[in-house]
Amino acid sequence: MPSSPDTTISITRTRSPQQRPADASLSFGKVFTDHMFLMEYDEGQGWHSPRVVPYGPLTMDPATSVLHYGQAVFDGLKAFRGEDGQVRLFRAQRHAERLNRSCAALCIPEMDAGLIRRSFEAIVAADHEWVPRSPGTSLYIRPTVVATEVMLGVHPAHRYTYFVICSPVGSYYKEGVKPVRILATDKYVRAVQGGLGEAKTAANYAASLSAQRDAERQGYTQVLWLDALERRWIDEVGTMNIMLRIGDEVITPPLGGTILDGVTRNSALALMRDWGLRVSERRISIEEVMQAGRDGSLQEMWGTGTAAVVSPVGELGYKDQKVVIGGGQTGALTQRLYDAITAIQYGRAPDPHGWTS
Ligand code: COI
Repeated sequence: MPSSPDTTISITRTRSPQQRPADASLSFGKVFTDHMFLMEYDEGQGWHSPRVVPYGPLTMDPATSVLHYGQAVFDGLKAFRGEDGQVRLFRAQRHAERLNRSCAALCIPEMDAGLIRRSFEAIVAADHEWVPRSPGTSLYIRPTVVATEVMLGVHPAHRYTYFVICSPVGSYYKEGVKPVRILATDKYVRAVQGGLGEAKTAANYAASLSAQRDAERQGYTQVLWLDALERRWIDEVGTMNIMLRIGDEVITPPLGGTILDGVTRNSALALMRDWGLRVSERRISIEEVMQAGRDGSLQEMWGTGTAAVVSPVGELGYKDQKVVIGGGQTGALTQRLYDAITAIQYGRAPDPHGWTS
């Protein structure tokens, strides 16, 4: 692992702490804490100078390569304050490892996974007062790596910046878990085999915007992505992984290059297997889903992701057809997953898999 020996994290505290917002006013990703974590990579030196510093702008030359060619990766995890007052990170190691896999996919030099984890711990320790206290709130942590070499040649950069910023976020569902309407698109694709689909990189989010805007114009909340080759196999929903229950089988598309290896996806699969449910990671076509919707065997469908945990789907549109799922209500399994995952995150339930730290 190209780790530098320089792994002592220095800490410079802000002299002008901000007023923290009231928990009730929090939404997603609009307010940022007093500090950020920074570290640079230089060819020959490796990753160096890990430090916590006051939050502030990064100044960039207009020719900085990330601004032109998008060599940028990120991840997203959360810290939760339990009723016992203890602050817990959820699956920090898995997020650190995924960030490194995203780096590898974009030709960005990997970091030491232990140091990535320590960067999460260091920033949360510096800003622990920012971890909100109200039920459903948390501190969203956004580690990001961008190419900072000043050059317009198209090749992997020789210089990078790693930063971690944090945002106190509100409960995703103000009035409880709420089903959304989604539209399967055969016009746009999110990812192709051999592309960047399994990396958490800026390009995938940029590629999703037109489809998302079209879906919203048609009255839907999110896009259901189909595979790029046949426009038939379901891949993901919006920025989340997708799961559905048909009869007694829970199905989610297999990881295979175009799908993000979601941490909530992995957690939900582990819990459902613990519960003895029949869980299949298999390809499923949009025709099979629509047919199951029509004959009533499609009982539940939901997205999984760090931001919302689970997002139930109440209605699915495809071409000129529409199916209502589970009477448009949140299904029992979707709710059970939400309750079980959040109970572990907030320390209200035992953590048999050792996910919190
Ligand atoms: C998540 O569900 O956690 C996401 O990936 C959404 C994030 C890009 C805002």
